[in-house]
Amino acid sequence: MEAGAPPDPPPVPPEDVLGWHNLRYVIHRGDRRRERTILSGTSGIARPGRLLGVLGPSGSGKTSLMTVLAGKLRPAADGRRKGRGRRHATDGLVGDVTFGGEPFHEGPHPASERVPLSYIEQEPRFFSNLTVRETLTLDANLHGGDASDVDDVVRRLGLAACADTLVGGDTGGKEVRGISGGERRRLAIACETLSLRCSRGAASENAVSEKKADTIGGAGKRKAGGVILADEPTTGLDAHAADKIVEKLADTAREERCCVVAVLHQPRSAIFQKLDDLLLLASGGRVAYCGPAAEALTYFEKTDPRHRCPTHHNPAEFLVDLVAINCDAGSEVEAADSARVDAICAAWASTGASAAHAAVPEVRSNGGDSPGGDSPGAVRVSNAPGPLGQFALLAGRAWRQTRREAWVRVTQLAASAALAAAFGACNFKVGYGPKSVKRRAAVLMQSCINTSMLAICRSLNGFPRERATVSREMRRKRGGYTAGPYFFSKLLVETPVDMIFPVVFGATVGPMVGLRREGRGWFLATLALQTAASSTLGTSVGALSPSAEMALAIGPCVMVLCIMLGDETGAFAEVPDALAPLANASLIKWGFRGCLCSEFEGLKFDPLGDDRATKTAAKTAAKTAKAAIVARAKKKMDGPCPRTGEDVLEDMGLPLRGGAARAAKAQCVVVLANAALTYLVLRFRGA
Ligand SMILES: Nc1ncnc2c1ncn2[C@@H]1O[C@H](COP(=O)(O)OP(=O)(O)O)[C@@H](O)[C@H]1O
Ligand SMILES: [Mg+2]
Repeated sequence: MEAGAPPDPPPVPPEDVLGWHNLRYVIHRGDRRRERTILSGTSGIARPGRLLGVLGPSGSGKTSLMTVLAGKLRPAADGRRKGRGRRHATDGLVGDVTFGGEPFHEGPHPASERVPLSYIEQEPRFFSNLTVRETLTLDANLHGGDASDVDDVVRRLGLAACADTLVGGDTGGKEVRGISGGERRRLAIACETLSLRCSRGAASENAVSEKKADTIGGAGKRKAGGVILADEPTTGLDAHAADKIVEKLADTAREERCCVVAVLHQPRSAIFQKLDDLLLLASGGRVAYCGPAAEALTYFEKTDPRHRCPTHHNPAEFLVDLVAINCDAGSEVEAADSARVDAICAAWASTGASAAHAAVPEVRSNGGDSPGGDSPGAVRVSNAPGPLGQFALLAGRAWRQTRREAWVRVTQLAASAALAAAFGACNFKVGYGPKSVKRRAAVLMQSCINTSMLAICRSLNGFPRERATVSREMRRKRGGYTAGPYFFSKLLVETPVDMIFPVVFGATVGPMVGLRREGRGWFLATLALQTAASSTLGTSVGALSPSAEMALAIGPCVMVLCIMLGDETGAFAEVPDALAPLANASLIKWGFRGCLCSEFEGLKFDPLGDDRATKTAAKTAAKTAKAAIVARAKKKMDGPCPRTGEDVLEDMGLPLRGGAARAAKAQCVVVLANAALTYLVLRFRGA
């Protein structure tokens, strides 16, 4: 190779290459004068079967590039940023990302719809109470794969030793200790490998069975490779674990014949040796080099003899230093560094390889006019389960997750029983005297509020914990699932378990307080339904809120509002007539009503009967031996006593007969309304 000449790229069929051409990404902050260029004409290619390492100083645009390649940030015709998370209205991204000459993300049938694309997050999240094997098995089943696929990736990714260990994390009720950080990242690679493999297997099955393999926009005539993107998969790991991750990425690239692009942070020499290709970025996403990693040092040395890597020096560190600008050592050093980096980038820009990367390949139409009437996007995952199958798989996961947290539930159960005992002790055997009316109502309302608050807090805390994992899984183009199977499986498994707590609470409080025995069934049913209604309300708030913190801030406020609107006794607030219709949406209204009706319907009072408070007051008075005080105390406490519970219900404007059953029906409607709202949010906004 002549001095400064670009390295010769290895020959590859152009249709398997992932390319990005002249990407420009500019952020405008407020006004146009304060714009910031994140990527300035970044071009490069990733070849199948090869691992491309992206190196560069911090802030050079590596993550931004990966975001664009993943399609999370897309060039728009008007130069505006599309998609979710629009923060700056004038953010502009232009340029092309292609796979095999076809637009990768743009158009009605982008190549990414048929070419498996995986993004490995820096901190991959999984369900904490599933083992490594169970996690992979579920993924394989969702993709239509089987146990042999799982065994294969477990072996290849070196996960056999931890296959039956819990993954760990905090998606459940508490942080679970599980596999190490390195194993977790290898598990993420295993999941993506499975996805690639199962999608491809299914695609080729389809192609064979439909005899259209060579007609689908060029998709079926070759074994589709796929793309794996990983942003800093080694960060935070020890050297050995980092080495293993890069080795597995390189193996995956070779074995799956896919393009693997990985941003690496401070890789050690051994890791650098494992890279097939290297993309070196300078500030502003300027390309300093893109080609075979093994030829990078020679290229720089030939471009400028001063850019020779000293012997025994880590080449990765040398290369990053070469394109880094030191802003802390004074303006002279900074200017010299800038000049050097400018020269390096200009040298690369003048090479033929740079021009070849920047040129957009002749883009094939992806407008859905493929011969055979099928489109590239039409490749289906043949064995992948439908919504019912997904529901069954996800219900199995939810059940495992819940079962393995049994002791958390036992703690919650014990807390419910203890709270009930405290409630019962404070209101022990209220009797049937005049005072008991007020005290019964108070106990019932407190039970209802307590049940609702505990349930909403549990669900507000629970859903956000698994949200990131679910969101990643739902976004998958293949092997993902829709909102329905996820949400209804969660509802089916978790709600009945949650309903046990209020039943224990009510079953303890009832006898201690001396609530009407005949109304106990409806009382417990009302509390159980109240839990279901509050849990679904909590999940709705969680799904609507952008973050867990916001959900936790909003949820209790919504509940307090429900209490104010739903309090028909006027103990907490008098609801103005104008707001009365709104009260029907308050789950507290129906909970209160159900509890009150279940207790007072058919209850008989004893106007001469003593309750505990009266007795205590009388005793105290008697001790002072002043009959007048006794009389005054009794008079003060007694007051007009209703004869029956129906009198009380009538006073409160509640139905005299069948009120508890009607309230239960209304509670069911509240549960369904909240469930429908959550489903719609998850369906249209995603998790
Ligand atoms: N949406 C954004 N808003 C503001 N600045 C951004 C945004 N995206 C990226 N940047 C800035 O662009 C530069 C490159 O970011 P990034 O791609 O994350 O760098 P790297 O991953 O190489 O460290 C950083 O200085 C970052 O602050
Ligand atoms: Mg980054």
